[in-house]
Parts: sequence; structure tokens; C-alpha cells
Amino acid sequence: MPDPPARPGGWRAWRNRLAASRGFQSWASRMPVLRGRARREGAALFDLVAGFAQSQVLRALVELEILHTLREGPQDAADLAPQVGLTEDRTRLLLDAGTALGLLERTRGGYLATARGAALLGVPGLEAMILHHEVLYRDLADPVALLRGTAETELAAFWPYVFGAGAAEDPGQAARYSALMADTQALVAEEALRHLRLDGVRHLMDVGGGTGVFLAHAARAAPGARLTLFDLPHVADAARSRFAAEGLAERTTVVPGSFRDGPLPPGADAISLVRVLYDHADATVAALLAKVAAALPPGGRVIVAEPMTGGARPHVPGDVYFALYCLAMRTGRARSAAEIAALLAAAGFADIRVRRTDRAYVTGVVEARRPLA
Ligand SMILES: C[S@@+](CC[C@H](N)C(=O)[O-])C[C@H]1O[C@@H](n2cnc3c(N)ncnc32)[C@H](O)[C@@H]1O
Repeated sequence: MPDPPARPGGWRAWRNRLAASRGFQSWASRMPVLRGRARREGAALFDLVAGFAQSQVLRALVELEILHTLREGPQDAADLAPQVGLTEDRTRLLLDAGTALGLLERTRGGYLATARGAALLGVPGLEAMILHHEVLYRDLADPVALLRGTAETELAAFWPYVFGAGAAEDPGQAARYSALMADTQALVAEEALRHLRLDGVRHLMDVGGGTGVFLAHAARAAPGARLTLFDLPHVADAARSRFAAEGLAERTTVVPGSFRDGPLPPGADAISLVRVLYDHADATVAALLAKVAAALPPGGRVIVAEPMTGGARPHVPGDVYFALYCLAMRTGRARSAAEIAALLAAAGFADIRVRRTDRAYVTGVVEARRPLA
């Protein structure tokens, strides 16, 4: 089939012809007014070209625990080499690469973590997340095959394996990744609760609530509320233990079940779905939201919190990272707040509000209510 004729691009087409011309690039790089912009554009392009190498340097620093080692005091390459099992030259190469990335700095006593490098260690779950990217990295090796859907992906098997057959074979690994889920859920809970008011809620049910981190945080934002966690049976014990440890056992009920099977338990005046929808296809999400609506009273509230794409204004966390991550998972997709709002409207929800969160790389938040009549 012949290519469809290109639509006229107007002045942008003219701009793009200019930007792509080697002669113009060379001229712009010498012109006083344009020189700074040309340099910034070149550097931004090179960041895209080399971004994967930056991520791999980060991974090596995390894997070798170099940021931990250099958090409190400086060391030079010769000191560090035997600890990390590399030659002195290669250790220096890695330390210089980490310095170039702003994670380390050179001081008189040797290399030391920067505030950014140290901050990375304080973000719950971030090191585990960086390490598990080895799986995603392999899936991204052929991005076109990934986009065509012709490649088998490792990530599709990874999470089901870790919490399924793998949990029996390697309980340590299952525990590590449960901790990753729980750690990152704490970040999502904190960010979502910064943009939500739960003070009027009498009974909050968290569907797909995992081991209960979101409810444990929400308990503080809704002090008098009853709390119900609904999830598949395999997480029930861990959730009960968490609630007991946090002194919440009296206020909480754990209901094991699948939202694919029957209706959701009634009784809650608010239902949260935290990092649940993006794991599922549109038809599953539509059926789930219909069950959420059926379980809520008129005026009842649904809260969706998960990383979202930017919709009309694509952004890197949502439209690059989470969109590709979900593609490699092969079960759902990252959606924009507008797409989630449309699914909520189709399930009969009204008063739909998109909360502006400041950290798209942690979560977005959309809320809605069942109409009163
Ligand atoms: C990505 S995890 C999110 C867990 C938690 N909300 C969080 O943010 O960490 C998705 C959760 O949905 C649960 N889930 C998946 N399918 C389910 C189903 N059919 N019924 C109930 N829960 C389900 C999983 O067990 C898991 O806890």
C-alpha cells in the first residue's frame, strides 16, 4: 500500500527542515544569540542517545553498594577496588561515571556520595526497583518487537513467578519483592493522601490493597473510619499481620476474594483502587468499576491512584517509563487521567475530579462519586 500523503505541517515543517539542515546547525552553533540554545538542544539529544548507559551506570553503583559505602566518608579508587571486586582502573571509571551523573563528587579525601546520591538511598524501594530493572532492560532490548507485540517479555512472567511458583522455590526473593511493593506503595500512599481529604469517610475499602500499606496510611487521614482490604487470598495473612502490628486490627477487616468472580462486599462509603487499574485491560477495568459503583451507596466515592500518562501533554514518567513497563507486563496499560475519567463516567460515576499531583513519577489521582439519585 502506498504511504498516505503527508498532511501539510505549516511553519513547523519549515522549522524542521531548518533544524535538520547540517548547514543551519553549524551556523547556529556559531551565532551568539542561537549558540546557547543550540548547545542545550545538542546536550538534550545526547541525553536521549545515551540515557540507557546512564541507567546502567546507576545500576552498577547500586549493585556494588557504592553509594552506601561512600555516604559517610570519602574513599579513593584504590581503597574501594578490593571491596567491589574490580580493578582500580575500572573502579575509577565507574566512580567518574557516577560523578558525571551527579551521584558522587570528588573531594580531597576521595570520592563521596553527593546529596542526590545519598537521597537515592533514602527513597523506600528505589534500590530494589533499580535492580529489578534488569528484567525490563532485557525486554526493551528490541523496542520495536515489544511495540509490535511479537516479543515474549520476561516481565510478563516475572511478577506472577515471584509471588507464585517462585515464592515456594525462593522465599527470599518473594520477600524482597514484597518489600519493594510495600515500600513503593508507601510512596504512592503519601503522595495520593497529600491530594485527598478523607476526613468525612466512615468506611474505606481498598480493592487490590496488597499487604495494606495504603490503608495503614489512610487510617491516619481518616481517624474514625472502618477499613476493609479486599484482595486475592495470598496477601491476606501479610495484610492482617501489618494491621495487627500497626494497632489497626480492631478497625480493619481483610476480605479475601477476586473482583473477577463475584460482587464486591458492600458497606464502604469510599473505595480506593491503588495501582490496580493499570494492571488490567479496558474490559476488566470497566467490569471492575461497575462492581465498585454497585458496592457504593449513592454519593459514595471512588479514588483511583496510580501512575498515569499525560494524555494531551505526554510526560516522561507516564508516557515513556510506565507506558513501556505496562506494555512489557502485557496485562494492562498506563492510562491518562482523562481516560480513567472516561471509564469512571461510563461506569456511572459523576463529579469526576482529577487531582493535580506534583510527582507524576509516583502517582496521579482521580476521584469521582456515585450520583445521589
Ligand atoms: C500492582 S498490585 C498493587 C497493590 C497495592 N494496591 C499497591 O499499590 O502496592 C495489584 C494488586 O491487585 C491485586 N489483584 C489482582 N487481581 C485481583 C483480583 N482479581 N481480585 C482482587 N485483587 C486482585 C493483586 O493481588 C495485587 O495486590
